[in-house]
Amino acid sequence: MESQFTHVHDTPPPGAAADWTISQNWDAFTADEHAMWDRLFARQSDMLPGRAAEAFLRGIDVLRLEKPGIPDYRELNARLMAATGWQVVAVPGLVPDDVFFDHLANRRFPAGNFIRTPEQLDYLQEPDVFHDVFGHVPMLADPVFADYMVAYGEGGCAA
Ligand SMILES: [Fe+2]
Repeated sequence: MESQFTHVHDTPPPGAAADWTISQNWDAFTADEHAMWDRLFARQSDMLPGRAAEAFLRGIDVLRLEKPGIPDYRELNARLMAATGWQVVAVPGLVPDDVFFDHLANRRFPAGNFIRTPEQLDYLQEPDVFHDVFGHVPMLADPVFADYMVAYGEGGCAA
């Protein structure tokens, strides 16, 4: 069966730094890609009341994630940094475990710098920017969870 993983690499792909980060290059996202974010955001937000933890909802609010379009990390990171000292960094896709844990230990959350296609609306195998930013980043605005994730990263590095 043909691999569906198109954002998996053994070594940092061309253009990526040694720590696998790349520029978010936010200006390059198309109107369709921003619209996909908005569509996903609307669907998932509707499901949060009664399901998501208070800290998650607070994170959405503190980080102003309700602002339409794929978040521009220049703005998002200013809010996240002020809240807990964390930042989101763009990566081409899945990164090796040691790279991932090292980023977490240093208060950097790697987010895949692409967004799913309409055919992948309900599910995709690789974490895209919506999965990573909407799914994981709100909790990083919570000081207790933010520190826990650093310890988790350090534990991953040690293991
Ligand atoms: Fe995830």
